[in-house]
Order: sequence, then C-alpha cells, then structure tokens
Amino acid sequence: MVYLNGDFIAKDKASISVMDRGFLFGDGVYEVIPAYNGKIFRPTEHLDRLQKSLDSIQITNPYSHNKWINILNKLVNHSSSTNQSLYLQITRGTDTKRKHNFDALTPTIYVESNPLTSKTKQELSKGFSAISAQDIRWSRCDIKATSLLANVLYAQDAKKHNVEEVILYRDNQITEGATSNVFILKNNILYTHPTGANILSGITRDLVLESASACSIQIQESSFSLDNIFTSDELWISSSTREIMPITKLDNKPINQGKVGAIWGCVFEYYQRLKND
Ligand code: PDD
Repeated sequence: MVYLNGDFIAKDKASISVMDRGFLFGDGVYEVIPAYNGKIFRPTEHLDRLQKSLDSIQITNPYSHNKWINILNKLVNHSSSTNQSLYLQITRGTDTKRKHNFDALTPTIYVESNPLTSKTKQELSKGFSAISAQDIRWSRCDIKATSLLANVLYAQDAKKHNVEEVILYRDNQITEGATSNVFILKNNILYTHPTGANILSGITRDLVLESASACSIQIQESSFSLDNIFTSDELWISSSTREIMPITKLDNKPINQGKVGAIWGCVFEYYQRLKND
C-alpha cells in the first residue's frame, strides 16, 4: 500500500501524469524517515527539514504536521516489518505544457514505506570502503531535492568500484558523501562540515554529534581536507538508512591501519539507545 494524493492504494495502481513537473524537471523535494519498532524516528526533525526544502522551492506545504504524521503512521502500521524506511516526495504538480517557469499548481504527494534492515554491530565492525570524487553538485545541497543526477552518477560509481560511498570534496574541503554526511575523528575531536548550502543537514548528523558528546568527544563543525582523512583516527558516514558506518579504506588506502576505531563503538551504542527510546 502507498499514499498518493489523498488515497491509500496498491503500489501497482499508483500512477501520475507525464506532465508532472517531478517527472519533467525533477521539480520536487523529498524525505527519508526511519521507523523503528513501528515508531517513527525523529518525525519533527524530518518534517521541519521538509518544510525548509518546500520553502526553498516555493511550494506551500500541502499538509499540517498532524496530517503528515497520520499518513506516515498509517503506512507504518499497515506493514508487517518492525523497522521501516518511509519515503515521501512532493513535486510541484502537473502542468499543461512543458515550460521551465511555473504557475501555482496542485502538488503531487507520494509516500511509501519499505522494510529497513540495519546492519549489526558485528557486521559494521568489519569496516567499509569508499572512494573520493570532486563535488560537482549545485550550490543548494541543503535542499533535499529530487533532482539527484550527480548523486545518481556517484552511486553508480560506488557500485562499479564495489564501495559503500563516494566522499566528495569541493575546493579541497570534504563536503559530504553522495548519500550521507561525513565525519573524522582526530585526537578525540570530531570534525564535520558545517551546515549551510554545500551539504544536506542530516538528521542523523545531529544525532551523531549528540552521541559523540555523550561519549565525551569534543565537536568541531569545521571542514577538513582529503589529506586530513588519511591522517585521521576514524572516518564515519551517517544517514537515516545506514545509521553510522565506519569507513576503514578510502581510495584503496587504509585509515587507522584499516581498523574500526573504539569511539565509533561508543557512538554506535549510544545511537542504538536513541533509536530504542
Ligand atoms: N540521503 N547528505 C546527502 C547528500 C544525503 O542524500 C543524505 C541522506 C544525507 C544524510 O541525511 P539524513 O541523516 O537526514 O538521512 C546527507 C537519504 C537517506 C536518501 O537520499 O535516500
């Protein structure tokens, strides 16, 4: 079952017009929200970010906070999976002809929920590989826009190289991953790119910072270079679907001799507690 424009229907019955501006231009925004044990995780934070994305592209939020929560809960409760990943997207709507500029339209609203399997601590403790690439995306990466062509190409590159993520740099400073935020730990200080137009302000990013503080780690929201990564003690990526993953190899070179660091373990444990609160 999915939600489309006011109706809960079977996914194979859900369809939209070819004149939808989401289809024609990628003219829309989205959110990915996890639900653990049937409970939506950090709904307010995700819906607040959705509001910011909508404001940035001049779409009026079609629903109140409560209406969104009702829709999301209905999908979560309908599924038999205890842990789920909710995907919601709003496009500007269906136009009468293809033109770049827009008039006021009725937004197209789509929501689905899929099973979410989190990796265990044991699975994560093996460490993961990543590659680096120049960040060729536009300068409004803070908007969670459905137009993701650059991210799609990075993800394909990751698949081709059999790695977990592509870590991006702009002007020699690490911005984020193609689908995640990036952190390094050095001498018990955790560094991550500050929020702003060059990164998506991840909901998990905030939770990583909260978890790291709980592990007595100092936080510094400042950017760092590729060279800093290679001399760091730990490298992590975070996202709502992948939580906090330790990266132990970048561009085929080991980080911290290819071993997962101890602080990751502490942050991982704290995050699990937040999830189950
Ligand atoms: N992506 N940066 C980018 C570019 C992302 O695409 C994502 C998440 C994040 C992490 O944000 P959060 O912690 O709120 O999930 C950072 C989602 C999962 C996706 O596009 O599927």
